[in-house]
Amino acid sequence: MKQLKDGSVIDDAKHPGDSMERRKDQCLIYGCMRLGGGWNTNAVTSDDEKNARAAIDGALEIGIDTFDHADIYTFGKAEEVFGRILNNDPGLREKIILQSKTGIHLGQGPKNANTYNFSKEYLLHQVAAITKRLHTDYLDVLLLHRPDSLMNAAEVAETFYVLKHQGLVKHFGVSNMSVHQIQLLQTYWTEPLVANQVQLSLGHSLALDIGVSVNTRMIPYDSGMQGMIEYCQLHDMSVQAWGPLDRGLYTETQNDSLTGKDLDTARLVAQYAQEHGVTPSAIVLAWLFMIPGTVQPIIGTSNPERIRACNDAATVHLSREEWYRLWITARGENLP
Ligand SMILES: NC(=O)c1ccc[n+]([C@@H]2O[C@H](COP(=O)([O-])OP(=O)(O)OC[C@H]3O[C@@H](n4cnc5c(N)ncnc54)[C@H](OP(=O)(O)O)[C@@H]3O)[C@@H](O)[C@H]2O)c1
Repeated sequence: MKQLKDGSVIDDAKHPGDSMERRKDQCLIYGCMRLGGGWNTNAVTSDDEKNARAAIDGALEIGIDTFDHADIYTFGKAEEVFGRILNNDPGLREKIILQSKTGIHLGQGPKNANTYNFSKEYLLHQVAAITKRLHTDYLDVLLLHRPDSLMNAAEVAETFYVLKHQGLVKHFGVSNMSVHQIQLLQTYWTEPLVANQVQLSLGHSLALDIGVSVNTRMIPYDSGMQGMIEYCQLHDMSVQAWGPLDRGLYTETQNDSLTGKDLDTARLVAQYAQEHGVTPSAIVLAWLFMIPGTVQPIIGTSNPERIRACNDAATVHLSREEWYRLWITARGENLP
């Protein structure tokens, strides 16, 4: 038995463990990074709008109600095309959770390198532009896209306060942040940050690798993910997993270029997909759902068929043995 902060008690025996039951709040997010006709400065076309609508409908069909954007995606065109769709379908906005990100300043450094900007002036300007492009009065969630080394946490908190009180943003979160960076921000912004969006998948499991290497010489690459999964559980933050399908690495049935651990993993994924009677995508996403806490994979395919192939993820229950076998095979080395 365990007592929670609100005084309620949970029975550990009934909680995710050997039974690996999935919590109700674990669901997929649709990532809009590829909508709008690509990373170019061409105007958004009616075909781009048709393709975006098909992707959104595919996502809605499989029960996805959260859509992830960023001001930079396809140079603003992802939000623009989504905004056109919202404008043409007035009932849609209230049915969905609309999330966007800001804080990356594209091409502002030497040799057009990206820089980061969490200043009040920049964030307010960007949120105004985001809501305008999306044809919405408000965002349900705003995430800070990547850590700004010059972040003034007090200034960010003040900016969040302004955005919230102007009714422009309901909730805030972060992306690609370490536990220490989140803690610093939470010292000034005392409302709970709702999510940390990080790369997490069978093929990119650094957040888990670091957890099992405690006090061993098997020091994994320090990606700043130390304690992140645990921190998010402790503070009821969701881990939004970007790149969850590893761009189809393990799920394409015809992929002759695979070798070594990638090939072994793809074969294992295919085997489990057959045994569970689901798609390979469902197996890979179910693997993420089983990580303790709230993990929300953000699928980024713009192909409606591939979106639909993710539907089964909600019904698969991998065994503990299957889960570990997938991870170890994808790592290509044993756990300590
Ligand atoms: N916070 C961050 O820094 C950050 C960074 C990157 C992404 N994101 C978010 O995460 C979302 C997802 O990222 P992602 O697109 O890299 O993840 P993903 O879902 O793992 O990969 C989707 C990409 O893989 C391709 N793909 C090839 N075979 C596929 C298959 N069998 N099934 C599914 N996709 C296949 C898709 O092409 P097709 O479209 O042709 O199917 C698409 O280009 C983005 O849309 C964005 O919202 C956030």
